[in-house]
Amino acid sequence: MENIQKKAAEIASFFLNNLSRFDKIYIVSHKDTDGITACALLYLTLTRFKKVETKIISQIYLKTLDELKNEVGDNLVVFSDLGSSFCREISEKFRYYIILDHHPVKNCKENILNPHLFGYNGAYDLSGAGAAYFFCKNLYPEIKKYSYLAIVGAIGDKQNDPFQNLNLEIIKEGKGVFEKYGKNIFIENIEDDLRDGEYFSSLVNACGTLNKADLGLQVCIQNKEAIKKAKKIFKKYDEELNTALKHFLENKDKIIEENKKRSVYFIVSDMKRSLTGPLSTLLIKVFNDKPVIVISKRNNLKISARGTKKLVSQGLHLGEALKMAVDRKGEGGGHDIASGAVYNGEIEEFMEKVDFEIKKQFKKRFLIEGEIIINYEDEETAASTAEAVNVDNEKPLKATLIESYNNKNEFITLIKSENMGTFKNVIDDMLVCIKSSEIMKE
Ligand code: C5P
Ligand code: C5P
Ligand code: ZN
Repeated sequence: MENIQKKAAEIASFFLNNLSRFDKIYIVSHKDTDGITACALLYLTLTRFKKVETKIISQIYLKTLDELKNEVGDNLVVFSDLGSSFCREISEKFRYYIILDHHPVKNCKENILNPHLFGYNGAYDLSGAGAAYFFCKNLYPEIKKYSYLAIVGAIGDKQNDPFQNLNLEIIKEGKGVFEKYGKNIFIENIEDDLRDGEYFSSLVNACGTLNKADLGLQVCIQNKEAIKKAKKIFKKYDEELNTALKHFLENKDKIIEENKKRSVYFIVSDMKRSLTGPLSTLLIKVFNDKPVIVISKRNNLKISARGTKKLVSQGLHLGEALKMAVDRKGEGGGHDIASGAVYNGEIEEFMEKVDFEIKKQFKKRFLIEGEIIINYEDEETAASTAEAVNVDNEKPLKATLIESYNNKNEFITLIKSENMGTFKNVIDDMLVCIKSSEIMKE
């Protein structure tokens, strides 16, 4: 498989080779933290070459691309944190384009940098800002001191639980940029309050949600006045979000009861449309045994869906589910663990379709099932083995579900898998794991 860094260098060469053919560069990016930090990295880099104009949008529609084409003509357009699902249309419409993204992608190779094309999962391994950073490094090596923006972007997309793969590489490379890593990362040499990556990310996110993306961009590049302003709007936004959250938490039992027969918790109200995303991110932490889908009924339906790594390992793909459910009555898609949509139809019909798709995903996934049962002499050993084995099981394994527990002195492991090869490997690993826990106990 081709290397993602090599591809980044190739796209940078494409940029340099064609530089004389356009006058201006347009950056089109997504309006959440990841999109705004991606845009900031690109802005810092590309202004060194040409005049740059930024456009922060909430999503791409076909209409958006037509309007954009009219405006940019034959100039270069760089898409970041979005574009993958429209890569064919983009390649047909635009003379010079680059896509730096981490959303699921099919059948695209030209001028696109996307971790999914290199065997990674863009939902966990690299953010849109990370993809932009890999590209920028080739054109402006000093951008390394801003590598924290790639990580703040990843935090915005909840990729810090824990950082892995390409994100972890960025952190390890960033000597003198990051103070320590783990779930909470601290950034060196920047404005005091923003040293906490989580807070930095929340501040930029509030700017995006409240349609003040330009302010968010200024925060990214450490403009003191902008930071002051952003803090003010963040406070107001946070209060609003918490009021809404409290309301749903108070109605927890009712929500559980209403969704008893469904594969999903649908949480519906006429809340502000901008709140569905952040609310769903908070609510999945409480309602975490099924996916959460928050729907605002203001105007047409605005939908945000969130899952957990465990549910994804059981077959859930929210991006696919929403794409199938909206069909031609709207637009929807996104990652396996987080997705969104707008829908121009009846709410009941929509919920039924989503429920159907998700039930199908959970069913289809596992074709092979098996159980390991071991009878120990006492309950304590069975319980401690289950505990030891479960620690190892916490890393979600692709296409596999493993659950270990004890029933009195019986230790039981349930294994479900998509394919025979994985199934066999998991059983081998489990036996090794059980054996070593027995040895430890002795
Ligand atoms: O722009 P993108 O599609 O990459 O953004 C994903 C969105 O989903 C972010 O707003 C992020 O906060 C959210 N998310 C989440 N939980 C996850 C992963 C992403 O709430 N585990
Ligand atoms: O709006 P929300 O934050 O819930 O969106 C989560 C993700 O779902 C977006 O970052 C985007 O990747 C995807 N999405 C999409 N099409 C939409 C809305 C959201 O692909 N119409
Ligand atoms: Zn993103």
